[in-house]
Amino acid sequence: MSIQPDKNSRALFNSRIGAIAAAAGSAVGLGNIWRFPYEAGANGGGAFMLCYIAFIIILGIPVLCAEFIMGRATRSNEMRAFRKLAPGRPWFMTGYLGIAASLMILSFYSVVAGWTLDYFIGSLTGRLALDTPDDYHRTFVEFTSGNWVPLAATVIFLLVNMTVLLRGVTKGIEKLSKTLMPILFLLLLAFCVNSLTLPGAMEGLAFIFKPDFSMITPRVLLNAMGQAFFSLSLGLGCMMTYGSYFSADTRLGRTAAMTALLDTVVALLSAVIIFPAVFSFGMSPAEGPRLVFEVLPAIFHQLPLGGLLSTLFFFLLLLASITSTISMSEISISYMIEEKRMSRRKATLICTAIAITFGSLCSLSFGSLSHFTIAGLTVFDLFNYVSSNVLLPVGGLLISVFVGWKLSPDTIRAQLTGDGSYRFRAIRFIVFCLRWVAPACIGLVLLNSIGLI
Ligand code: TRP
Repeated sequence: MSIQPDKNSRALFNSRIGAIAAAAGSAVGLGNIWRFPYEAGANGGGAFMLCYIAFIIILGIPVLCAEFIMGRATRSNEMRAFRKLAPGRPWFMTGYLGIAASLMILSFYSVVAGWTLDYFIGSLTGRLALDTPDDYHRTFVEFTSGNWVPLAATVIFLLVNMTVLLRGVTKGIEKLSKTLMPILFLLLLAFCVNSLTLPGAMEGLAFIFKPDFSMITPRVLLNAMGQAFFSLSLGLGCMMTYGSYFSADTRLGRTAAMTALLDTVVALLSAVIIFPAVFSFGMSPAEGPRLVFEVLPAIFHQLPLGGLLSTLFFFLLLLASITSTISMSEISISYMIEEKRMSRRKATLICTAIAITFGSLCSLSFGSLSHFTIAGLTVFDLFNYVSSNVLLPVGGLLISVFVGWKLSPDTIRAQLTGDGSYRFRAIRFIVFCLRWVAPACIGLVLLNSIGLI
């Protein structure tokens, strides 16, 4: 199937930069700045980093290309894309997996976005100007175990997300984020420089950049793979939907590589900020989801104009989060609109109601529900773990097998080379990874984690 010029009324991103900005807007978010450092910290630092980067290259970029190819070849959401390419076959069920995973992620992600909102307000009012790292630890634990404030913050965040989606001001948000994200980037760079001057910085750098190969365990592999999928927004058709909006002359391979590069750089910057500070302040790198919310405010506090920088930082992080939550909400919303013929309004309300329900449970799992566990995990941990470590890789596996084995090589070539109008040298590498590397890697890691091999 060659590249279809877009004849129907679906909106298109109209520039090359627009395509990259939208994909990067979805990819860059709390996954890079909050999730990556704490996962790396809890999984042996350097060992995790090495596996993560390897997975980005052999799984992330190929699956990103596969999603873009399916999206632009069909100009449809995930479910319809599978229906068009494999009519009458059960492949479209992958779409249900995507919807379930996106709602799960939206639920716990909004809790962390709610914390970000609270820390933004706290920085603005000076409430976060504390003294020792210990104070920051105590403040965070008190805040999240307090039930009501974090719950309200989660709900407020979801209502803001809903307003953006309802008003259709997504475009406005994207434009805003396109202009403000470079500031976030510069701010991260400045914080890096600062962290590197802290006493004990080298210990932090060694922790994250010197892999101890004996630390590469099956668990580390699973977590690194989950993080690679999570961070690139892969496995549930999110990037497929974005690919469906790309114009005919967007170069898919280049867009995929640029998105992966930007996303990885932001994650690396975040690690270079966090770990030197963790070691310098004598904290533990394996704190889990609390890590970043305890370390960052402590770093800001010892900077000149710390309150201002902290306010700006949490505001920009909030903006980066909303471009990500918009992309995950769109999965279920576009399903309800395009497949169930609902109005955008109704679809958005339903999606928000589900996220508020499950988001509340996730939020309370740091408070009253902290003793309510399933398989030893709280609701928040369960959603976080199952979606990233199981659902996204399974979705990615199905997409890889489909594009690698079922989709005609002509379609792949046409999509990646602009119908033969330019060369794309990595095409063999991409197809090889989709056919062999992704199914083997994902299969082995998943089977191993459930104890089958
Ligand atoms: N990648 C985003 C982040 O790093 C989160 C995200 C947005 C996502 N859309 C997604 C994760 C789709 C998985 C699937 O913050």
